[in-house]
Amino acid sequence: MTHKTLPGRSVKASAVENQTYKVFPNDLNSMGKVFGGLIMSIIDRTALVVAERHSGSSCVTVSVDSIHFLAPATRGDTLLFSASVNRSWTSSMEIGVRVTIENYRTRETHHILSAYLTFVALDDNGKPTRVPSVIPESFIEKRRYAEADERRKLRREEMEKRRSDREQN
Ligand SMILES: CC(C)(COP(=O)(O)OP(=O)(O)OC[C@H]1O[C@@H](n2cnc3c(N)ncnc32)[C@H](O)[C@@H]1OP(=O)(O)O)[C@@H](O)C(=O)NCCC(=O)NCCS
Repeated sequence: MTHKTLPGRSVKASAVENQTYKVFPNDLNSMGKVFGGLIMSIIDRTALVVAERHSGSSCVTVSVDSIHFLAPATRGDTLLFSASVNRSWTSSMEIGVRVTIENYRTRETHHILSAYLTFVALDDNGKPTRVPSVIPESFIEKRRYAEADERRKLRREEMEKRRSDREQN
């Protein structure tokens, strides 16, 4: 991996704001609610767009932190996906995604889930490559930037634990 430091990039430069997905009947499960796997797939794609914009490289998903569906989406709802980079390290980046439902009659929105995904940027040989740092500007971006490092520590601890469990079994 090159040791060259890349210029930092703002959060805004790669963010996706309120990308819409209109729910149709073929998106529903047998209970008439949107199939969770559909939402997870759109989350992954939306976050990938942010990771590739931020890094300027091809990226792969390496981990998704736990996902909790707080409320169901149903027929006729409009789903809104927003995603932005919280922080980057050497070759990896944490992208936060927020999903809300919009009621088209009242235009009211409510939050149904948030997720944190980690992507790694790859070079042309498929090896991890250096990514630009993130320049947090607003209060909320600075908070997310600080919290992302805490989450990375927890992920690394979990990865270590899994590795040692595998070695013991
Ligand atoms: C991404 C991949 C190339 C990284 O390879 P690797 O040998 O683990 O590389 P490294 O150990 O050098 O780690 C590279 C970075 O990934 C991060 N990383 C690796 N595994 C991780 C995990 N489970 N969660 C979060 N970050 C992870 C490391 O912390 C490191 O970050 P940094 O460079 O910012 O410090 C490899 O794990 C891979 O190909 N995974 C499969 C990805 C994929 O196919 N995704 C689609 C799923 S279908």
